[in-house]
Amino acid sequence: MAAHVDALFIFLLIVTGMMALLVFALVIFFAARFRHRPGVRAEQIEGSHALELTWSIIPLGVFMVIFIWGAVVYFKERTPPTDATEVYVVAKQWMWKVEHAEGQREINELHVPVGRDVKLIMTSQDVIHSFFIPAFRIKQDVLPGRYTVEWFRATKPGTYHLFCAEYCGTQHSGMVGDIVVMEPAQYEAWINGTSTGPLSASGEKIFAELGCSTCHRSDVQGRGPNLQGVYGRPVQLADGRTVTADENYLRECILDPGSKRLKGFQPIMPTFQGLVSEEQVNALVAYIKSISDAQPAMGEKTSAGSRLPQPLNDNERANAQPMEPGLKK
Ligand code: CUA
Repeated sequence: MAAHVDALFIFLLIVTGMMALLVFALVIFFAARFRHRPGVRAEQIEGSHALELTWSIIPLGVFMVIFIWGAVVYFKERTPPTDATEVYVVAKQWMWKVEHAEGQREINELHVPVGRDVKLIMTSQDVIHSFFIPAFRIKQDVLPGRYTVEWFRATKPGTYHLFCAEYCGTQHSGMVGDIVVMEPAQYEAWINGTSTGPLSASGEKIFAELGCSTCHRSDVQGRGPNLQGVYGRPVQLADGRTVTADENYLRECILDPGSKRLKGFQPIMPTFQGLVSEEQVNALVAYIKSISDAQPAMGEKTSAGSRLPQPLNDNERANAQPMEPGLKK
């Protein structure tokens, strides 16, 4: 993205530079051309539609170019590629905790392969921090109570600075780390050498331990919605709104289930605020994403429908036999 931002910035410099030159040149020219001469009186000119239209329409065109160009670059920059590797980041006073989809945990370090899109899904345990990698030219505030996202594709192996760029207390200046960009083969070795199992698998375990699976059943409709295939889809809420079931929506449903309840379900889900840590919420979100075909989990690129269960339509739901209680898929 850096090249696009540079191009726009250089365009702005050239346009504003040329305008500044034009203004200065005209000031000097008019000062000389219309200088005071003895015996000559200035002539008053009243209006010129042609002139006014010209100096309105030309700038409008220039500004529209800047606006559209800027908007295109902005939307591209703010939209992570859908096949990006996902990494969860939890900030706290005063460290960065990182968890890979494959299950690796790191503190104040992030290992990534060169040439791959990496999407960071970030939240904070306490105050506002900011995840800043100057060499990659990305910076994004990390807030308590919600996810923010940034992404990058490292182009050169090496070790790069990570800074916290939001004053967050006495040790703010020490809240630093390293981004280690590795060759793909090296990265594979690293990821295999340190893995503790995929994040979505720990999420599945937590899902069972907290008893989520008793209501959110994967066969027919339980007391809670079937979560298979829900990620990334529009869902209808009880209050009539339709929202996209993205990471922030899933997180909100776990921590504050009443706020955006699905249409057709009773408000019986308890809140898990305070019962689950940020890391556990991340694992749960990763698990729910892994059982949706909208975005296959890292490392298992299944084509839709081949292995992942599909959400049932109403007809299938009515005909499906409930599984025996206690029986897991
Ligand atoms: Cu965290 Cu400054």
